[in-house]
Amino acid sequence: MNEEFLAAKELRKAFNGNVAVDVVSFSIMRKEIFGLLGPNGAGKTTTIRMMATVLPPDGGDVMVDGHSVLRHAGEVRKLIGVCPQELALYPELTALENLVFFGQMAGLGGKQAKEAAGENLLLVGLQDRAKDAVAKFSGGMKRRVNLAISLMSRPALLFLDEPTVGIDPQSRNHIFETVQRLRGEGMTVLYTTHYMEEADRLCDRLAIMDHGQLIAVGTPRELKAQIGQPEKVTLEEVFLSLTGRRLRD
Ligand SMILES: Nc1ncnc2c1ncn2[C@@H]1O[C@H](COP(=O)(O)OP(=O)(O)OP(=O)(O)O)[C@@H](O)[C@H]1O
Ligand SMILES: [Mg+2]
Repeated sequence: MNEEFLAAKELRKAFNGNVAVDVVSFSIMRKEIFGLLGPNGAGKTTTIRMMATVLPPDGGDVMVDGHSVLRHAGEVRKLIGVCPQELALYPELTALENLVFFGQMAGLGGKQAKEAAGENLLLVGLQDRAKDAVAKFSGGMKRRVNLAISLMSRPALLFLDEPTVGIDPQSRNHIFETVQRLRGEGMTVLYTTHYMEEADRLCDRLAIMDHGQLIAVGTPRELKAQIGQPEKVTLEEVFLSLTGRRLRD
């Protein structure tokens, strides 16, 4: 359990001279749910995109199970799945067709892709809607399809970028249960959110990010203990105490 699975080392990224990620280092242990928390524009998605080999860092490196994103991107891609913040779905296709399509893109054969699609729809609680066009789904159901797609290759490490933004409580609970079940099966998860109470409930450890920098890393309890009695303090208050600002308006 205490084996390091991902190590981000002094990651940096700027866009047109504006620093988005400012020398960020952290580790994620195998089978851990690791939260990356922070307000809009903190640099969470940019960090994920560098870890996921989508965006080259300006400086630093990320090691995933010993493979560098700079030197062994192909090896890293075999280990990871990404559930992006922006939905990437074909609305006119059914849920099942979307999953099979993306499964084949990830290198699965037709039969394998169909099997995995069925399993993943069950996992996110959409098996009854498999044959409906995604265009007819609610926002929360679309998010669950998005998650199911990122699981098609059964990644060892899953990046979930704000999977619960603007969705109904039922879909949110489904996503929580799915993430916990996947971890139980041995998956390592990086979870970004700006909902502090969500991170508190779900994450083993978390990092708080602000203006491109990590300002705290630890278990929810450790972070809360920095400012008071952990039972009486919220992560929202930790953020306020560290930055002098509220996380949300
Ligand atoms: N492709 C890009 N081109 C220019 N600027 C970018 C690009 N991507 C991100 N940025 C900038 O980098 C900073 C960090 O953005 P990022 O999307 O990583 O934040 P975030 O923490 O994911 O925010 P959110 O909670 O809104 O998703 C922001 O100032 C953003 O405007
Ligand atoms: Mg983002």
